[in-house]
Amino acid sequence: MTSTIKLFEPLEIRATTLPNRIVVSPLCQYSAVDGVAQPWHFAHLSTFARGKSGLVFTEAAAVEARGRITPDCLGIWNDAQAEALAPIVDFIESQGCVPGMQLAHAGRKASTCSPFSEWGPVPLVKANSERAGEPWQTVAPSPLPVADGWHVPAELDNAGLEQVRQAFVDAAVRACETGFRVLELHMAHGYLLHSFLSPLGNRRSDAYGGDLDGRMRFPLEVAAAVRAAIPDGMPLFARISAIDGREGGWTLDDSVEFSRRMAEVGVDVVDCSSGGIGGAPRFRVADDGKPLTRDSAREPGFQVPFSRAIREQVDIKTMAVGVIIDPRQAEEILQDGGADLVALGRELMWDPFWPLRAAETLGVDTDYRMWPPQYAWAVDRRAQIKALNES
Ligand SMILES: Cc1cc2nc3c(=O)[nH]c(=O)nc-3n(C[C@H](O)[C@H](O)[C@H](O)COP(=O)(O)O)c2cc1C
Repeated sequence: MTSTIKLFEPLEIRATTLPNRIVVSPLCQYSAVDGVAQPWHFAHLSTFARGKSGLVFTEAAAVEARGRITPDCLGIWNDAQAEALAPIVDFIESQGCVPGMQLAHAGRKASTCSPFSEWGPVPLVKANSERAGEPWQTVAPSPLPVADGWHVPAELDNAGLEQVRQAFVDAAVRACETGFRVLELHMAHGYLLHSFLSPLGNRRSDAYGGDLDGRMRFPLEVAAAVRAAIPDGMPLFARISAIDGREGGWTLDDSVEFSRRMAEVGVDVVDCSSGGIGGAPRFRVADDGKPLTRDSAREPGFQVPFSRAIREQVDIKTMAVGVIIDPRQAEEILQDGGADLVALGRELMWDPFWPLRAAETLGVDTDYRMWPPQYAWAVDRRAQIKALNES
């Protein structure tokens, strides 16, 4: 479909063409068993393909077992995990969308409870949670817990760094063999690679710590190793926390420099998130122990300025994410140079058919080829209702 509306303009990155600029942001489901995707994952991810998001990312998939945030997180370190994902990949492709995988290592934020395995904050695998299982030793650049009461991670030595680097490479190759056509390295939200970047997570005195060059070294090595291992035509994204938002933390200027260096090692898109280096609990708890909703009092598009700044200063594509809700807002972000792609998380969970609704809102000709043919009746019905309302 051709359109002057940017949201529905295809985007070519290396040998892959994304059919539109709408991306499903990675969304942990805490529903895997031994890292293996379940029917829930098929239902969850296939819905976004039926709704025609151009690029559908899996949730963070751990590159090794100790890199899972929780015991219920998805993994991509063995063949059983890849096999379970293959039908999901095929389905996304069958809808004309592109399947992507986010590769992750939770580092010092691993070995926690799933948010819905028990009420309340979930900083640790607790003995009183049936789903929690046994805690495991976490790893990090430095032996600094995320916050008081969290696991104390083991500092990765050179052999440990090599092992993690190889785990990313093996996972990337396995993801390619499974049929994923875009990969994203998770370098945000306080997980392992972010904790190398941030002075608040990295206190090393060797070549992998210290100044900005030292702190960027390991994440850049991982990106370069993954780039070298995957097909040349495959797009590689990296999600960063563009700012820590904390005293003495990682800054937007650091992100600009890091993006420049990532472009040099063959990263194609910087996905601009923020925060997470500290240990704020995922849920706030009321006096009666029940969870309050997550504090999401953020401005619409609050992270777009990060994406814009990087896009303006570095020759690299960017993706904006965070409280992008309205189709017109999304279109404006793309039109005025804020980003090349927009990623949506919660809004797509709320309405997986958001792209089709956006097309209607923006006056794009939503012909039958855009909708799944099985749902053409719904398009007819909607057209009838619209005509009735206008008459
Ligand atoms: C339930 C849930 C799970 C998430 N899982 C991941 C994840 O696996 N990887 C990641 O980078 N971000 C994750 N995020 C962050 C989202 O990808 C997204 O950046 C964030 O929700 C902001 O976008 P939104 O306002 O459109 O939801 C998650 C967010 C939610 C709500």
